[in-house]
Amino acid sequence: MKSLPKNPNLDYLKKEAKKLRSLHRDSNPSCCARIRQLDTSFLGKHDQEILDANFSVMDSQRIIAREYGYTSWARLKHYIHSLTDNIYQGVSNKRAYQKLIVDSYDERSKNYDNSEWHRNMAIQLVDYAPPAEGQKVLDLATGTGTIAFHAAALVAEMGTVTGIDISKSMIAKCNEKLKDSKLQNLDFIYADAENLEFKANSFDRIYCASAFFWMSHPLAALRHWIELLKPDGRLGFHAWPDNSEIWGNISRKVLKNYGINYTIHQATGSVEKCRQMLELAGYKNIEIHEVKDGRFLSLQDAKGSLLNESDYAPGQYPHPLKNVPEEILTQAQVDFDIEVEKLNTDKGVWHDMSMFYVFGQKI
Ligand SMILES: C[S@@+](CC[C@H](N)C(=O)[O-])C[C@H]1O[C@@H](n2cnc3c(N)ncnc32)[C@H](O)[C@@H]1O
Repeated sequence: MKSLPKNPNLDYLKKEAKKLRSLHRDSNPSCCARIRQLDTSFLGKHDQEILDANFSVMDSQRIIAREYGYTSWARLKHYIHSLTDNIYQGVSNKRAYQKLIVDSYDERSKNYDNSEWHRNMAIQLVDYAPPAEGQKVLDLATGTGTIAFHAAALVAEMGTVTGIDISKSMIAKCNEKLKDSKLQNLDFIYADAENLEFKANSFDRIYCASAFFWMSHPLAALRHWIELLKPDGRLGFHAWPDNSEIWGNISRKVLKNYGINYTIHQATGSVEKCRQMLELAGYKNIEIHEVKDGRFLSLQDAKGSLLNESDYAPGQYPHPLKNVPEEILTQAQVDFDIEVEKLNTDKGVWHDMSMFYVFGQKI
């Protein structure tokens, strides 16, 4: 397999694809072995048959992508874009970034258990890839321990579950609940999911419910967690589409016009992106369940929901609206409302709440 140059660029790769296509068009047999090897429809064909066949730009791009280890041109292209968009770059001031998270979830720990929505998603994550009796489970960013308690029942006495979180108040909540339960196979630790001290190859299952988007360096986190999985062990986490209009797309588009970069969910915002990221981190047998969901909002409710500084901006620090002058925000809000109006239907404005349940395995 060929390695990509240090700073790969799409134009260079397009030129390579053009060159290959020219070789084919000029009936130059030097292209045949490459095509035969990487396109199964030409397997076992003679050079002349390959040269006589149609060979489009897309065919040529697919061969180039495969020469670099990507199954399709789209995946190779996505990877190149991800480098230029810096979607895997992470935040530079991790300490300050995490302090905001801790402050917010310390507060939210008081009534976090009232959220049925979070609870159902967390249980569903486990149920897609449940641990067996006797297995070892790690629940990253456990919150109030929904997954941890559920998994502790599934692994039974011979198994163990550890829940970790950076919010001490969340961990205190978990310990209160643990005291009231009869479970002996469960413990909770205050720790940063991105910097854990467990031994390599320790866990059969690692879950991260509604929290992967908080990681300050998501790709590095995935690489850290694959170390902690046992061979054949599985990781599962949630991700959200980056094209959800109300929850990102319109704010992103409008703010971009004022030079403000809002990156929420961009690293894992599609099935393709989730797959790409897991592959880059070394996971195999990737499975992504896309659960479609959403509801109509009245135009009035939909308007006015441009990102504001008290909203989360996961993966970004400082907040993208920090120090943005008030008059720009006011104008951006007007632009936002205009965009929302364009989406209005007789039922209202569609508010997409779909999500991905993402799984990868360590082989
Ligand atoms: C939306 S809650 C999800 C809680 C739980 N997993 C659930 O689904 O109910 C997000 C949690 O992630 C935790 N968190 C965020 N970044 C973290 C990190 N780097 N390490 C550990 N916990 C983290 C927060 O403290 C918070 O408890």
